Amino acid sequence: MSDFAQHFLTSPHSLAQAMNLLPTEDAAAFPLVDSEGCKKMLAAVKELSFRASTPVVGPKGKEVEQDFQIAMNFDQPSVLDEYQTALEEQINQAFFLMQPSPYSQPFSFNDKAALIYKEGSKGITPHRDLLCFEAVIAILTLSGEAGFYICDDRERNNARKYTAEPGVMILMRGRNFAGIEERPYHYVEGVSKERVGYGLRYNVKEPAEKAR
Ligand SMILES: [Fe+2]
Repeated sequence: MSDFAQHFLTSPHSLAQAMNLLPTEDAAAFPLVDSEGCKKMLAAVKELSFRASTPVVGPKGKEVEQDFQIAMNFDQPSVLDEYQTALEEQINQAFFLMQPSPYSQPFSFNDKAALIYKEGSKGITPHRDLLCFEAVIAILTLSGEAGFYICDDRERNNARKYTAEPGVMILMRGRNFAGIEERPYHYVEGVSKERVGYGLRYNVKEPAEKAR
């Protein structure tokens, strides 16, 4: 078992229960990492180099406005890898408990990104994550606070709020979770206190990660 698992507040069983909500609710939010674990991860995130996000992305008529700093494609080893290993272990155990497993196993992530939303940031407007991101999308907040919303469309209809706060995992359905093609619209707003988040995804187009 990965050492970082000592900082987890979930069990494979509670994680399986949360993931059982994904087909109908699109996302689930629950405390995942204790404050000591968040502190360790935050220290590792502070070592990464960030760049400003492109303010507007997407084709005409489907523009997405975004306002954050991002670090991705980093490969220096850190406690963030231990977190990833611990989470993958627990997700695989939960998938196994779910019967039938909602996705093929063993499951692992191959896309990681740290995001900083400065206080007063406009957040990100409604969008869906790319088609290539499958199974589950795991967004952990390490510090600060913001509103994370799941909604039905770009107009924010039927918005449901999840509070992104330290230690809380917002687990969102990726494509092909339990065979579901549809991907949830979501957005971030109301950044009341600079928020640092860490996201893990599985990109089906990337070659499998080399064995660790
Ligand atoms: Fe997204």
